[in-house]
Amino acid sequence: MLVNLRQRTYYLATTCIIFIFCIAFYLRTEIATGASPTVEKTQTEKNPIKEEHAIPQKPKYKPEKASISPPIIDNFPVAAAAHSASELPTIAPWNAPPSPHVPESTPLFIGFTRNWRLLQQVVVSYITSGWPPEDIYVVENTGVMNSNKNGELSLQNPFFLNHTRLNMLGVNVLVTPTLFTFAQLQNFYLYTSIQNEWKHYFWSHMDVVAVSYEDSPPDSIPESKSIYTHCVSALRDVALPDPETGAAKRWAMRFFAYDNLALVNVAAFIEVGGWDTMIPFYMGDCDMHARIEMAGLGITDGPAGLIYDVASALDDLLVLYRKVGVLPEWTDPNVLDDEMRAIAEEAERKAEESRLEVERLEKGGVEKEKQKREIPTRERDDVGGILGKNEIDLQDEEIHYEFLPPSPSPSSPPHTSTSLSDTPNSPTYFAPLLSTLDRMQNSKHASRGGRNTWQGRQTGGIGEPFYRDSEGFERAIVMTIDHGRAVFAEKWGHKDCDIVRIGMRPGDAWRVERDW
Ligand SMILES: *[C@@H]1O[C@H](CO)[C@@H](O)[C@H](O)[C@H]1NC(C)=O
Repeated sequence: MLVNLRQRTYYLATTCIIFIFCIAFYLRTEIATGASPTVEKTQTEKNPIKEEHAIPQKPKYKPEKASISPPIIDNFPVAAAAHSASELPTIAPWNAPPSPHVPESTPLFIGFTRNWRLLQQVVVSYITSGWPPEDIYVVENTGVMNSNKNGELSLQNPFFLNHTRLNMLGVNVLVTPTLFTFAQLQNFYLYTSIQNEWKHYFWSHMDVVAVSYEDSPPDSIPESKSIYTHCVSALRDVALPDPETGAAKRWAMRFFAYDNLALVNVAAFIEVGGWDTMIPFYMGDCDMHARIEMAGLGITDGPAGLIYDVASALDDLLVLYRKVGVLPEWTDPNVLDDEMRAIAEEAERKAEESRLEVERLEKGGVEKEKQKREIPTRERDDVGGILGKNEIDLQDEEIHYEFLPPSPSPSSPPHTSTSLSDTPNSPTYFAPLLSTLDRMQNSKHASRGGRNTWQGRQTGGIGEPFYRDSEGFERAIVMTIDHGRAVFAEKWGHKDCDIVRIGMRPGDAWRVERDW
């Protein structure tokens, strides 16, 4: 009995050992032959990492481009030198906002991501067009969180925004929690209005200049001349009941110069569900406007003033305050771009020349001493003898300063007479302002890189908080724009804007087969 039990235990233990051995052997074989996909993955992933540690590989960089962006110079020197709001120029009396404030609330949103000069220009242009500064809300959508508020970005940084200046001008700054796309920013305006219980709001593009009409004496219709008073009239008009039915108007938007400046009905935007944030940039407006139309809500267009679509800024915004002796000054960025390109090409040509010279000298067997004297060390160190980037930049800068800041020519009146107001529609000062703004608008449309190159022109700010590669940022936006177009096409089964014309109804979104 005892022997029997011992034998059985022995037998069982042996079987177990053989079983464990078999399993272990099987697993070993599996690992060795790489039969299991999971094991294989770990193996192949491991090897390159090991190799990388052994021989670190240098990334293959794209060729460096010479900077063609001139240094940014603040375009409102009087405000830059001012210690308080009391030192700012006063706006032309015929453009002054109504005092006291109209009973309606008139918030105006201006979104900002890049280009301080343009932003400062649009803000000053609305102030000088009679918009009460305390009603202007600059929406800082830079994604740099509090860095601008804390003054941590430099003027050369594309995302720079001067909070101190905007506060001095009396306008509000709202900082978005993260970088929003166009559609998200629009919804943020809507959200902010809901939070503030505003029934309507105005919003403006940031790349515009607003100028009030001055073509008739101001005292003929004193209350309806400035852009602001025109906008207030439009607001009162939409509030009136429909003259035919007597019912409240079903309106969503009032455009002033297309959507360069627009008035929005908060309730109507809520009704259609706001902007589709899956269509981040272009085509988002097509989608939104189409859904508004499908809902039977109106979008009407009417003038409020002169609103110029620009890509560049006036050199001194004081001109918008309409003072005697202040003429507009502006440098065409297209001309500047051509100059910069020519300089960069010249630098490259010179570098190529000196490279050839080195080759010639080396071939000719001229003794080293002479080479050292003729060719600067840094140039010889550069791969292929190409002039270093810094060197090109330095040369650029010399020329930049020739262009900027604009040196006041002896013929132009001095910019110091800040007190004496001009007369409305004056041929001496108002006419040149309008013709300059016209040229600025034409320059934008004639721009070599398309009408929106102003957005990618600036490149400074390396090492500052939330720094992003300027070109990379631009590229990523273009990719996101393309993505948005694709989403729109899939949403409506149609690639173009005319979805109402082809008979789409609100419930058709995402349910229609592609028509291409
Ligand atoms: C910001 O604006 C204030 C007030 O005009 C000015 O004193 C300051 O120099 C500006 N900051 C920069 C970095 O331009």
